[in-house]
Amino acid sequence: MVITNAKLRNKDGLWDISVKDGKFSAITAAGTSPDDEKIDAEGRLVIPPYVESHIHLDYAFTAGIPHHNMSGTLFEGIQIWSEHKTQAPLTEEYMKANIRKTLEHQISYGVQHVRSHVDISDPELLGLRVLLDIKKEYADRVDIQLVAFPQEGIFAYKNGAALLEEALKLGADCAGGIPHYEYTREYGVKSVEKTFELAQKYNKLIDIHCDEIDDEASRFLETVAALALETGLTNKVTASHTVAMHSYNNAYCMKLFGLLKKSGINFAVCPPENTHLQGRVDNYPKRRGVTRVKELLEAGCNVSFGQDSISDPWYPLGTGNMLRVLEFGLHVCQYTGYDDIANCLDIITENGAKTLNITDRYGIEVGKPADLLIINAKSDFEAVQYLSDVLYSVKDGKVIMKRVPSQVTLY
Ligand code: FE2
Repeated sequence: MVITNAKLRNKDGLWDISVKDGKFSAITAAGTSPDDEKIDAEGRLVIPPYVESHIHLDYAFTAGIPHHNMSGTLFEGIQIWSEHKTQAPLTEEYMKANIRKTLEHQISYGVQHVRSHVDISDPELLGLRVLLDIKKEYADRVDIQLVAFPQEGIFAYKNGAALLEEALKLGADCAGGIPHYEYTREYGVKSVEKTFELAQKYNKLIDIHCDEIDDEASRFLETVAALALETGLTNKVTASHTVAMHSYNNAYCMKLFGLLKKSGINFAVCPPENTHLQGRVDNYPKRRGVTRVKELLEAGCNVSFGQDSISDPWYPLGTGNMLRVLEFGLHVCQYTGYDDIANCLDIITENGAKTLNITDRYGIEVGKPADLLIINAKSDFEAVQYLSDVLYSVKDGKVIMKRVPSQVTLY
């Protein structure tokens, strides 16, 4: 297969991208590739697939059961999900149907890599077992990484630490945590230490829901970064959300940023979700509730965006379209300088791949898996401005999604 007349990011001219045995075999100037099965990109942007670096697949499409979130807060969301688990017991088939629907949305929007958190505050670990099955079922269309996520705490939930360990043994890829939800600051720190201890024991990545609260005194991020540095786990560690940083004072942030940079950790940020959840107990002016994305990127830290939720107890909307998440995030973080927008696809492609630790097999380079998207746009700017359609999604050299652009007639 050859993708002809491709516009590549940060490269002048048009290119032919050849694929052989599921891998990129050559990238040559347009018009020089051998006669083969061709897809003509007609000068459109060809990029590596979108990366969803933070979502909860096990929660998707469960909004309203047993009731809707009336306060719009994170804590009511946790309460509703806990009720859902006990009052309307989850079944394997119910979860699988919701997850398949979510993945099919994501695939249709060009997502091929997903890091999903999965609730392990459950003695049966049902969500994890279901997602391990789904991961195999969808392996030819989407790569799923699973975070063992103790939604109700490692210490605040009975046997939370043992369940986390069990989940890692069963096959979760990353160890999670939720220190701001533990009963005390001390339990929060202890929970972060436990996550690191277990990740090291089982050689796993780490992704911690960190300081997802409008409390300027919530400072578990410094613990996560310090441990990442001390253990040498550095970029194997991700701090998700970190919304309290929005409220930290600048003097503390100045000191903190030195550590964050040195630690090499990644940041997974969910702009629509946290704008929806945060600031709920503020009067006006209301905080936006998204971490300091612009400042983190300018400091050289890796930041990727995620959708977090699709129609669940925390967030009523969402579609799986990463361009929508990106467009929203650029606005709310005021990451809208010309150069920021001109390179913005990094946040949902390359940066996401760094967060997931998959850069060795990600990107349009000879020898790497032939995974790509053809976007109905000529540049990052146009893609985000028009929320451009993905016309083709190719994985391992096979077309897994094709879209015919809609036609509009003006009278
Ligand atoms: Fe989350």
